[in-house]
Amino acid sequence: MRLVELGKTGERIPALGMGTWKLGSDHGTAIESIKEGLKLDMRFVDTAEMYHTEDIVGQAIKGEEVFIATKVSPEHFRYEEVKASCNASLKRLGVKQIDLYQLHWPNRRVPISETMKAMEELVKEGKIRHIGVSNFSVEDINEANACLKKNEIASNQVQYSLTAREIEKELAKFCKKEKITVIAYSPLARGGLLERRHEATDVLKMVGERHGKSAAQVALNWVVSKDNTVAIPKAGNLEHVRENAKALDFMLERKDIKDLEDFFSDYVSRTFVEFGKEIAKGNSAFLGKLVSFRERMRQKPKS
Ligand SMILES: NC(=O)c1ccc[n+]([C@@H]2O[C@H](COP(=O)([O-])OP(=O)(O)OC[C@H]3O[C@@H](n4cnc5c(N)ncnc54)[C@H](OP(=O)(O)O)[C@@H]3O)[C@@H](O)[C@H]2O)c1
Repeated sequence: MRLVELGKTGERIPALGMGTWKLGSDHGTAIESIKEGLKLDMRFVDTAEMYHTEDIVGQAIKGEEVFIATKVSPEHFRYEEVKASCNASLKRLGVKQIDLYQLHWPNRRVPISETMKAMEELVKEGKIRHIGVSNFSVEDINEANACLKKNEIASNQVQYSLTAREIEKELAKFCKKEKITVIAYSPLARGGLLERRHEATDVLKMVGERHGKSAAQVALNWVVSKDNTVAIPKAGNLEHVRENAKALDFMLERKDIKDLEDFFSDYVSRTFVEFGKEIAKGNSAFLGKLVSFRERMRQKPKS
């Protein structure tokens, strides 16, 4: 498994981990799927107190060497609440230490200095190893970092996929400059990139055919081809876990990346949902682009 440095910590974590939001709600295979992923070297599991999956994760990682990330919910950002949430997460996970403890979303109703004081104390007490954030803007990160005395923010977990490219405008560049690892959530657009009815899937498949790879593998490989970025796809289906674990054993070529980014360029400024609405209204520019892309891909190279 490819490894990526976590922030400025000097520690390297798997470029592909496993998300666990809604894991277990749609499959009876939650524990097996995490175990299968660990066997296949995705030794990085992301959860959150909000997901109600920490206990499942705890059962699956028992006795395993794994990088474990969880999150405190914004409604628990008061000093005492952060401490209590962390203790409860440790118990549910069945571990003595959390590798990465993340603030799930910003909460402007609680001074960030109060929350960060508790986070630094948790590091000092050995209950957490690294501090991360999630869904933080550049401004939020700067404010949070300014409150830290002995630690620095190691990561920012944000939505990033071919159909959610807004972070490319500013946030990704900032994180790279500041050495804050981007943890890409919903890297498969919650499965939306892989739905048969979605035209974008055809584009991923066409690029995948050049390498003998699937649409999901292309989508994940593209996310992780970005500097300083790791991804945490969620898969309850064991076949999906196996497919995802093999997403990085090939290299997308410059041409593949260009084709993908040209096709999905509109998503830098629009969200998937906004775009879906436009397509539903018959956005001819998008459909035209798809037709010409398909034609180009089908053309035989000139000899
Ligand atoms: N920090 C935050 O605010 C935040 C927000 C959202 C998510 N997250 C984290 O990021 C993780 C991943 O994001 P996500 O769960 O929203 O979406 P995702 O990983 O983009 O997509 C998950 C969906 O894709 C399907 N899938 C996975 N691998 C597949 C494959 N190889 N082929 C076909 N379908 C496949 C899954 O189906 P099956 O389950 O049936 O396999 C599931 O329906 C979450 O679980 C969570 O840990 C964080």
